[in-house]
Amino acid sequence: KLPKRVTIKEVGPRDGLQNEKEQVSTEDKIAWINSLSETGISYIEVSSFVHPKWIPQLADASEVLRGIKRHKGVTYAALVPNIKGLDRALEADVDEVSVFMSASEGHNMSNINKSITDTYPVLEEVVKEAKLAGKTVRGYVSTVIACPYDGAVSPAQVRKVAERLFSMGIDELSLGETIGVAVPNQVERLLEEILPHFNVDQLAMHFHDTRGTALANIMKSVEMGITTFDSALGGLGGCPYAKGASGNVATDDLLYMLKELGIETDINLETLVKSAQFIEAALGKKLNSRQMEILRAQ
Ligand code: HMG
Ligand code: MG
Repeated sequence: KLPKRVTIKEVGPRDGLQNEKEQVSTEDKIAWINSLSETGISYIEVSSFVHPKWIPQLADASEVLRGIKRHKGVTYAALVPNIKGLDRALEADVDEVSVFMSASEGHNMSNINKSITDTYPVLEEVVKEAKLAGKTVRGYVSTVIACPYDGAVSPAQVRKVAERLFSMGIDELSLGETIGVAVPNQVERLLEEILPHFNVDQLAMHFHDTRGTALANIMKSVEMGITTFDSALGGLGGCPYAKGASGNVATDDLLYMLKELGIETDINLETLVKSAQFIEAALGKKLNSRQMEILRAQ
């Protein structure tokens, strides 16, 4: 039985842009986020307060957060890797912070320069301080199916990291299929391990679409009870510390599928397309979602 409604969390301004070589101006980022705020989306991950040398594209996180027009009913979130990042995020008055780590050692090391064991106390402190500042906290666990360095990742390992993150007090956990290799039966095995131990309303799935399997994986997840999904408009995105990882599942393609399935989202496809056209023009390259391709062909 399918759910009546699903929440889509737009990660394009963060996950979408972080892998773009061409620097997008702060002004264009602000205008894009403002247009996303008009679509009915209730959650936008606007940037990340990581080290600017690691992700130069998002070095203007503070300016972006300060520059956007905030809509009531929209949560504006940002990635935070450590206390230094949290301080910057709080100063810019972020609504929600996202801490992140990987289920595999190889990706964790290449992405945040620490072992899994050494990452826990860092995130623990961030979650504690963020909560003291009155913020909600989202956790990400990356490489939930496979790691670009270590290969297959077991569902038990993902559960272990998930348990640690929830024990720190995170409000929601997003399971990241970082490199886009998963197929539905792998997602099923992962969720069979995870679902009995956590509240399904506190879980989200985050699929990259490197091999075109993201919508199939979302369908499997929806059928198993998941009702929150991360996506990036036009299919932008990818982790620069996971070689070959391409974009997130496209928000516009996901919206089309959910709509046709009769699942509500509150997002308006027309304003969403306008927002996609804006960032397409700003980037000066074609977005590779199916919806945008269809539009261009008309
Ligand atoms: P490090 O070099 O080990 O950091 O990087 P450090 O703690 O040793 O500090 C070194 C210097 O960096 C110090 O400056 C710090 O102050 C400074 P110094 O004293 O030498 O002058 N520094 C900072 N400056 C600004 N903001 C900060 C910050 N932190 C330290 N926050 C670090 C460790 C975690 C910072 C680095 O590895 C990093 O920034 N990594 C981020 C990588 C990243 O953003 N990856 C992409 C996001 S994750 C993703 O895409 C996956 C996801 O989408 C889910 C999925 O798809 O699976 C979420
Ligand atoms: Mg991602």
